[in-house]
Amino acid sequence: MKTKDATGQTVIITGSNRGIGLGWVKHYLNAGDSVVATCRAPAEATDLIALKEEYGNKLLIEQLDLSNEEHFDRLGESLARYNVRIDIAINNAGSGSGKPFGEWDSESFAITFEVHTIGSALFAQMVTPLLNDGAKMVLTSSGVGSITRANRQNEMDAYAIAKAGVNMLARRLSVRLADRNIVVVAITPGSVLTGMNPNGTISVEESVGLMSSTLDKLTMEESGSLLHNNGTVVPW
Ligand SMILES: NC(=O)c1ccc[n+]([C@@H]2O[C@H](COP(=O)([O-])OP(=O)(O)OC[C@H]3O[C@@H](n4cnc5c(N)ncnc54)[C@H](OP(=O)(O)O)[C@@H]3O)[C@@H](O)[C@H]2O)c1
Repeated sequence: MKTKDATGQTVIITGSNRGIGLGWVKHYLNAGDSVVATCRAPAEATDLIALKEEYGNKLLIEQLDLSNEEHFDRLGESLARYNVRIDIAINNAGSGSGKPFGEWDSESFAITFEVHTIGSALFAQMVTPLLNDGAKMVLTSSGVGSITRANRQNEMDAYAIAKAGVNMLARRLSVRLADRNIVVVAITPGSVLTGMNPNGTISVEESVGLMSSTLDKLTMEESGSLLHNNGTVVPW
C-alpha cells in the first residue's frame, strides 16, 4: 500500500466485492496502482481474496457498510494510522430497491437514502483528510438522478431522489474542496449488466473503461458536474 513516501496512485473503492466496484478494483490493480477495496463482508469476498493472492500488498481489503457509522470511524482511523494517502476516491456501493406507488413506506425510502446519499456524505467526510491535494473524488450517481431527464414512471422513485441528493452533494463538496484542487464529480456508469441491473446493455469492463478514461482527463473545470461515463455533462 502506498504511503506518503511511495509513488503511484492509491485508489479507494466502496462496494468492491462484485459488480462495477469489482471492475474498478481490477482496472486499477491491472494498471499497477494500489487499491483499498471496501465491502460489507471481507471474509466472504471471494473475488477480492483471489486478487489479494495475486497482487499482495497492492490490495488492502477493508470492511465498510455504508449504513454503519462506526465502520466509517474505524476505517478512517485505520487508514490514517497506516499513513495511507489517496489519489482517487470512488464511492460506488449502492443497492437498487424500490416499491410501487401505493406501497411506499418510510422504511424503504430511508434505507435507500441512507445507503446512497448519507453513505456518500459520510464516505466523503471520512476520506477527505486522507486525500492528496489534487486528488479526485467520484460519487456514483445514475441517469435516473437527473431531474431534467425524469420523464418515465417506474419503481425507482426513492432511488432517483437519493441519487439526485448525491448530485447535490458532489456540487457542494466541489466548492468545499476547491482550495485543495480536489476534483469532485458525480458520474453515471450507464446501463451496466450487474446483479442490480440484469437488463444492462454494457459490460462492467466497458463501463469502467469509459469512466476511468473520463477520470484520467478530469480537470477542476469539470468539478461539481454530473458526468456520463464518457465524460459528457448530464443535465441536473
Ligand atoms: N448497473 C447499472 O446499470 C447502474 C446504473 C446506474 C448507476 N449504478 C450505480 O452503480 C453502483 C454499483 O452498482 P452495481 O450495478 O455494480 O450493483 P451490484 O452489482 O448490485 O453491486 C452493488 C455493490 O454495492 C454493495 N453494497 C450494497 N449496499 C451496501 C451497503 N449498505 N454498504 C456497502 N456496500 C453495499 C454490494 O455489496 P454486497 O455484495 O454486500 O451486497 C455490492 O458490492 C451503485 O451505486 C448503483 O446505484 C448502476
